[in-house]
Amino acid sequence: MSFTRRQILGGLVGLGVVGLGAGGVRYWLGKPMFADTHDYELIAAPVDLELVAGHSTPAWGYNGQAPGMELRVRQGDWLRVRFVNQLEQDTTVHWHGIRLPLEMDGVPYLSQLPVKKGEYFDYRFLVKDAGSYWYHPHTSSSEQLGRGLVGPLIVEEREPSGFQHDHTLVLKTWHIDEEGAFTAFSVPREAAREGTRGRLTTINGKPTPTLELPSGQVVRLRLLNLDNTVTYRLNMPEADVRIYALDGHPVEPRPLGEEYWLGPGMRIDLALKVPEAGVELPLRNGPLRLATFKGLASEQPAGEWPAALPANPVPEPDLEKAETIGFNFEWSATLAKPNDKGPAKYWQINGQAWDISDKTCTDRPIATLKKDGHYIFELRNMAQYQHPIHLHGMAFKVISSNRRKIIPYFTDTFLLGKNETARVALVADNPGTWMFHCHVIDHMETGLMAAIAVV
Ligand code: C2O
Ligand code: CU
Ligand code: CU
Repeated sequence: MSFTRRQILGGLVGLGVVGLGAGGVRYWLGKPMFADTHDYELIAAPVDLELVAGHSTPAWGYNGQAPGMELRVRQGDWLRVRFVNQLEQDTTVHWHGIRLPLEMDGVPYLSQLPVKKGEYFDYRFLVKDAGSYWYHPHTSSSEQLGRGLVGPLIVEEREPSGFQHDHTLVLKTWHIDEEGAFTAFSVPREAAREGTRGRLTTINGKPTPTLELPSGQVVRLRLLNLDNTVTYRLNMPEADVRIYALDGHPVEPRPLGEEYWLGPGMRIDLALKVPEAGVELPLRNGPLRLATFKGLASEQPAGEWPAALPANPVPEPDLEKAETIGFNFEWSATLAKPNDKGPAKYWQINGQAWDISDKTCTDRPIATLKKDGHYIFELRNMAQYQHPIHLHGMAFKVISSNRRKIIPYFTDTFLLGKNETARVALVADNPGTWMFHCHVIDHMETGLMAAIAVV
């Protein structure tokens, strides 16, 4: 693939941020600031954060925030983002979960050349699916995501969804010490196991925040796991809370139940009936408190549970005529140790370990699908660590597992449990070469990635 010349930014770039009203449902109101060229200007740059009281953390953020600024667009509209790189290193923006053309997918050397310091790149694509998505670089991922380059992309339903209150909660566990200094984003011993974990868990950059919500109302809570490594075991004991969407895609509303495992890259949209004024409800990760929701006296009449959200226009795979392809995810002690040619390789898919330092890997797809063909992927985890398996460019339907009961649903990321075999199905309707990888970032960087071609 050849690329057009990179765009170099001339003149000054102000920190132009599109203002969105606070609280309530914020329907996308048009193109307020850059109407003739783009809807958002998104600037990646260093930003100091106070994650630990009294200490500063040298993070990297989008538009002066880490996690980055929330972008909003309405389903069926175009999203046009002028991305500006003010970091000292190359980067790109990938739109996780969005079904878009390859040129907009943000994979370096496959979709585009990396955006260098001082350059900009215009991303523009039509947004087909409503739901909770996110954006992040696809370059030096351990460090770039680890330092805070992750942000929510919220696609509002074409018609009002029935929710009057809508909150985005970004989960991230920072790799920092007690003084706020960064620790290693990836260490070999951990990369070869469950992935390198951070230490300080935050929601929207705050450890264990309290959120006041109008009592009696049904509020939409969009929980996004934008962490490099951690699977959060979400539970809300005693809360009246229902699942409305998984990884952007609507499901038939059902109770949250005992615990939902939200792996890296995954999202869940919940509806919560807010308790009486003064009553507090914890949101927990296993036994640990992540946040507190507190009822606040409200004049509004009690809210109703909204109807199920409308399904996204994802093509339905035909299981009868689908061709099955197996993917084995394996750990290997015999693969390369780290050396001057690149990082270690501990993981492989169908016997092949991805080399993160080799730009030509995408020329050798692990599978080639026929455009508009129907496929079942049999995902087999041969290891005792779980992998959130993610595909770019297309959504897939989870149909079965040998370890748990599955209510079929569309997603872009499936948390493949230890020693689990699961079947997912899709229609290969998006031509291009698409990354297929584990979203535990140091697994991805030590082999657990592949390319799938659709021709
Ligand atoms: Cu969040 Cu390659 O993606
Ligand atoms: Cu992605
Ligand atoms: Cu993994």
